[in-house]
Amino acid sequence: MAITYLLVFCLAATACSCQENKFPPWFLFGAASASYQIEGGWNAHDKGESTWDRLVHTNPAAIEDGSNGDVACDSYHLWMRDIEMAEELGLTLYRFSISWPRLLPTGYPNIISEDGKNYYNNLIDGLLEKGIEPLVTMYHFDLPQSLQDLGGWANPLIIDWYVDYARVVFSLYADRVKLWLTLNEPFGICDAGYNLQHAPYLNNTDFGRFMCNKNVMLAHAKTWRVYDEEYKPLYHGKVSLSTLFIWYEPATPEDQELTDLVIEHWEGRYVHPIFSKEGGWPPAIEKFLLEDGKKKGYPNPLLPPFTDEEKELVRGTYDFYGLNHYSSRLVRKAKPGEVFSWPYYGSPELGVVFENHPDWKQAALNWFALYPEGLLHQLRWLKKTYGVEEILITENGYMDSYKGTDDWERLGYIRDNLEQVQLALQEGINVTGYTHWTLMDNFEWTSGYTVNFGLYAVDFSDPNRTRTPRESAKYYSQVTRAHALLPLPPRDEA
Ligand code: NOJ
Repeated sequence: MAITYLLVFCLAATACSCQENKFPPWFLFGAASASYQIEGGWNAHDKGESTWDRLVHTNPAAIEDGSNGDVACDSYHLWMRDIEMAEELGLTLYRFSISWPRLLPTGYPNIISEDGKNYYNNLIDGLLEKGIEPLVTMYHFDLPQSLQDLGGWANPLIIDWYVDYARVVFSLYADRVKLWLTLNEPFGICDAGYNLQHAPYLNNTDFGRFMCNKNVMLAHAKTWRVYDEEYKPLYHGKVSLSTLFIWYEPATPEDQELTDLVIEHWEGRYVHPIFSKEGGWPPAIEKFLLEDGKKKGYPNPLLPPFTDEEKELVRGTYDFYGLNHYSSRLVRKAKPGEVFSWPYYGSPELGVVFENHPDWKQAALNWFALYPEGLLHQLRWLKKTYGVEEILITENGYMDSYKGTDDWERLGYIRDNLEQVQLALQEGINVTGYTHWTLMDNFEWTSGYTVNFGLYAVDFSDPNRTRTPRESAKYYSQVTRAHALLPLPPRDEA
């Protein structure tokens, strides 16, 4: 079956190779996944418990369909099929994450799991054999529960715990892995993790998320410096982090100032310290939160200040910009008495609401607006604001709740977003690759299996977790092989 698809994909690609709209030869086409969302094997061999294991087992009501990632896509056993799918898709890049508690069952390097070590060795070697570059995320939301029990990301000691873990990862895999992401979406770790939306599922938006915010910045920075000093001279790889950027536009010209503040709050707190020339927190939100904290009766700043030394430590710790982009939102001032929640529908602190433009279509959830131009605006903004010279799109994908394979909307989403990437390239914005989220349907955090993003559908009722390519997989494989933006196929012939 897999071979048949490969054949069909290749024939289709040959037929299209005359197309214009080529991507530069070095442009990477990828797909992404994350350990907890696909691996399963939650207690295989000596694997330690993660914060996600703990959440789904103790509070299933937190997950929309009461499900969990105990088995998920069973990639712990089916990783060879995953590589085969990456090959079918014609990928030159595959992004996956390492589960910290699978590699270090105690959370610390006193025990390195043989089983965990081999699992990722096999995956990396298998990808390289097929000519697919591994892009490895070292942390994608699954913290060892043992470290959470000691305060997790709110405890400054985690900076060194993380660096110790990262050293093990580099020492095992840096000879073959050249592209690294220290952390996935620190916004999800902190702002969602301390707002009852992600593990550790705590409700501490006044303090927890900001303590976490500072610690993730420092953990990333110290790790980048370890690589830069000890591994880069040997292996010449690149390290960054991937950040979630929603593109915000003012609902009316009067909302511009508020919109700038929203961007600093949502995104700037996680990127400004690293990518700006001056370093440190974005100034307007730092000031706002200082005053907000005082109003709430707290004597000390909610957002812990950086010392000058820390600012310098963090500033400039990147080799490229890793962008997760999905959606755009309009920003307007909240009306008196209007109720909305952080982070997808507005910011109660800032008194702003996020909504969709009437012309934008929406995907399965209403915060997910379809406005591909937002991606180009985003890329321009990053170049202009931070002067970044290399941007890798580390996630972009379409959410629906449709379980079949005729996912025509997803094809449109891919085409439209790739078109914006081409426009950016034409303007001289150096986007070096596009990583589609996601290879296959998987455990979508607190949404469980109710929504999906996969190029492949997965049958979660089948013990074999059969993966079936969708129309989007066929289209994307044609694009990757033609290395060009292709028109959408007619619906009934694709
Ligand atoms: C962000 C996260 O990195 C990933 O884990 C998640 O599944 C997708 N975006 C879609 O929500």
